[in-house]
Amino acid sequence: MHKVSRGFIYFFGALGGILFGYDTGVISGAILFIQKQLHLGTWQQGWIVSGVLLGALVGAIVIGPLGDKFGRKKMVLTAAVIFFIGALGCGLAMGFWSLVLFRFILGIAVGGASTMVPMYLSEVAPAEMRGTLSSLNQLMIMTGIFLAYVTNYAWSGLYSGWRIMLAAATVPAAILFIGGLFLPESPRFLVRVGKVDEARGVLGQLRNADQVQAELTDIEEKAKIKMGGWGDVFSKVARPALIIGLGLAVFQQVMGCNTVLYYAPTIFTDIGFGVSAALLAHIGIGIFNVIVTAIAVVIMDKVNRKTMLIVGALGMAASLFTLGIAMHYSHNSMTAAYIAAIALTVYIAFFSATWGPVMWVMIGEVFPLNIRGLGVGLSGTFNWGANMIVSLTFPTLLAALGTEKLFIGYGVLCVLAIWFVHSGVFETRGKSLEQIEGYLDERAGVAAKN
Ligand code: BGC
Repeated sequence: MHKVSRGFIYFFGALGGILFGYDTGVISGAILFIQKQLHLGTWQQGWIVSGVLLGALVGAIVIGPLGDKFGRKKMVLTAAVIFFIGALGCGLAMGFWSLVLFRFILGIAVGGASTMVPMYLSEVAPAEMRGTLSSLNQLMIMTGIFLAYVTNYAWSGLYSGWRIMLAAATVPAAILFIGGLFLPESPRFLVRVGKVDEARGVLGQLRNADQVQAELTDIEEKAKIKMGGWGDVFSKVARPALIIGLGLAVFQQVMGCNTVLYYAPTIFTDIGFGVSAALLAHIGIGIFNVIVTAIAVVIMDKVNRKTMLIVGALGMAASLFTLGIAMHYSHNSMTAAYIAAIALTVYIAFFSATWGPVMWVMIGEVFPLNIRGLGVGLSGTFNWGANMIVSLTFPTLLAALGTEKLFIGYGVLCVLAIWFVHSGVFETRGKSLEQIEGYLDERAGVAAKN
């Protein structure tokens, strides 16, 4: 296979994130048109929106573990094919049921990519740059969301524009597949399946010549451990990793990130922006998100992950409390309405700079090699499950509690997240994946073998 540059490997390794972002982001605009053309009621719209979430929940738990069996690269390619079929099917869908079916299929790819991309990136990156390189995933997610907003805006004048909005995802899916063909397999997976020479070759591509042997020896040591099953995921050794994986996955969602993103255009129309200005403001938020995430990518290996999570949750809590109080007064005070808009923007900045990227980075790095696919898959499924629960309960809770109480409620969960990070998360920055695994062994009292 033709040898590609490191930049190529990191770019295409992360590219699956674009489809994750695009396919989850595009529906907020497209649904307005789908609903009119297909004459859909609210529950039907709900199914079309959450079809992807349901598919992702399944995709994470199926494709994650398959990555341990067939390799990370093959599963990235598989996800690209499913992305393509799902996007094309959505664009051509004849009615409600076929649209739900193809959104579900698309979701399987989204869930698969959400587990495979962080795993692949964390396994090819050198320890001292793993945070930055793994968080390229989130940068791609945000770029995908931004591209979706732009596509929505560009095609909003056309009656059947939603078909183009949904089918446009076939383009990055095809690019991912073609680029993915040239990606090397993860060296850690290669050692795991006994292809040590091939792994040496890949590490030679990714590291300076004098670093290869030491890293290979470390990986070989860990790869000697028997391939794990579900029992091992819940074992004493893996427990601290599992707590981090599941805890971060659930907290990332219950702190309300998607509801705030979803609610942003409404807040902007509430403070007097017209509908198209609100859509443009949405695009503005999209660009802002990409910029803030890019900053996170740069600082990721300079600041401890735990610090980022704690500062992020503090900032998110403070902005949600401000948002809740300001929303309370926003109907009769323009100042309060502007404060609400600023608080919302600050919330998004804190999320995009911290919990957005750090959660996926840590999920990709905390699990031992012999159960990595299972652990990452299960954490991904918890993240998608929590996403679905929050999205489905949001309209009902909003009606029952109102924006003030609801956003304050999400703020309280941010405070709980600080406690969780403080007491349940260990630091991973700067350590190799094998050192992280060694730490888990030590904690469980298993004597390291050398
Ligand atoms: C989250 C998604 C979210 C996206 C953009 C990801 O890290 O897992 O639920 O939609 O960031 O905010």
